[in-house]
Amino acid sequence: MRYELRGEVPRKRHTVARQNGTLLTEEVMGYEGFSGNESILYHLQTPCRVKELGEFTPIRREEWVPDAHAWHLMDTAGVAPEGDVIDGRRLLMWNNDVEIAICRPEREQEAFYRNGEGDEVIFVHEGTGELETTFGTLPYREHDYIVIPRGTVYRFRPEGQQLYLTFHTPGEIETPKRYRNRYGQLLEGAPFSHRDIHAPTELETHRERGEFELIVRVRDGFQRYVLDYHPLDVVGWDGYVYPYTFNINDFEPITGRIHQPPPVHQTFQGPNFVICSFCPRMLDFDQNSVPIPYNHSNLQSEEMIYYVSGEFGSRKGIDVGSITLHPSGLPHGPQPGLAEKSIGQTWTSELAVMCDTFRPLRLSALSRELDDGKYALSWYEANAEADSPAGVTSHF
Ligand SMILES: [Fe+2]
Repeated sequence: MRYELRGEVPRKRHTVARQNGTLLTEEVMGYEGFSGNESILYHLQTPCRVKELGEFTPIRREEWVPDAHAWHLMDTAGVAPEGDVIDGRRLLMWNNDVEIAICRPEREQEAFYRNGEGDEVIFVHEGTGELETTFGTLPYREHDYIVIPRGTVYRFRPEGQQLYLTFHTPGEIETPKRYRNRYGQLLEGAPFSHRDIHAPTELETHRERGEFELIVRVRDGFQRYVLDYHPLDVVGWDGYVYPYTFNINDFEPITGRIHQPPPVHQTFQGPNFVICSFCPRMLDFDQNSVPIPYNHSNLQSEEMIYYVSGEFGSRKGIDVGSITLHPSGLPHGPQPGLAEKSIGQTWTSELAVMCDTFRPLRLSALSRELDDGKYALSWYEANAEADSPAGVTSHF
């Protein structure tokens, strides 16, 4: 992250700041106590001010434990619209490091929301709009990753149909450490640069009074509060913590003469997991290269891939909105015949988001509903022939 400033802040930290004679309330929002990145915000009201304590609703997760340990293919395309961008998130899989959900909201958020126990990444599969946030307005568009640090009050203002793949982590979402120099600047060799990261544009200071509902995720549940003022009352802020967008199409794919491993697609890191972007690109260009992956035993990780657009014809059943999950303890790779078929191919148009976790993922009851039930046998030649592949994807 880099330093940003919006609105007005006093020349020195922790000194008198007034607007129209009123002393502003300073709030430091920082990670790792006072040792991590932070921003300082100046509010019209104290951010502690609540008029009413509402109900607490615990998060309930219904787990599906499959009868057999195996590979999975799910289809999310038919998931019905439900709720808003917060309560409409339908959990697919989770562990103690990350929760992955699909969200096709059917209505706009009314209440403001703050995640008090985790960072969020929201991949916008469909839709455009704006986030109203404590840090200002953050426009978003199709195929943006929206990264929202914990503690940010926000409300989506969507335009058109919306579909998101969402990630919540109790840890921090960061750019991969190996992409940064010792000062934090993204390196020349990184697949994206600071110009691709977009902070909030305008800071609008709200002065409205009335009743405003705020939902805060804390202690594995949602706590409701009622405020008597508009929570987006920031006059100015500066620092290194703020929500931002990064569009997946701004990821510059790294290719090679022979096949590059999945870490070249890494976009974000969290505790014990990564998020990667598979983007349209040239395939491996050695005349003897096999441009799809070798089988691999990801001995310590689970691989979840969400297919966004492009040609995924590596086997029947992979389509927009499909998810594959290749769990730890098992090797995985292309279906029979595909390595042969891939030789000489030079381009892939696929677009996909992958989340690899070091620790096992638990599956939800929704995953059971979406599971095709037969993917695990798709490497078995007899079945593979029946499912004759139509094309090639560059990964599996
Ligand atoms: Fe893989």
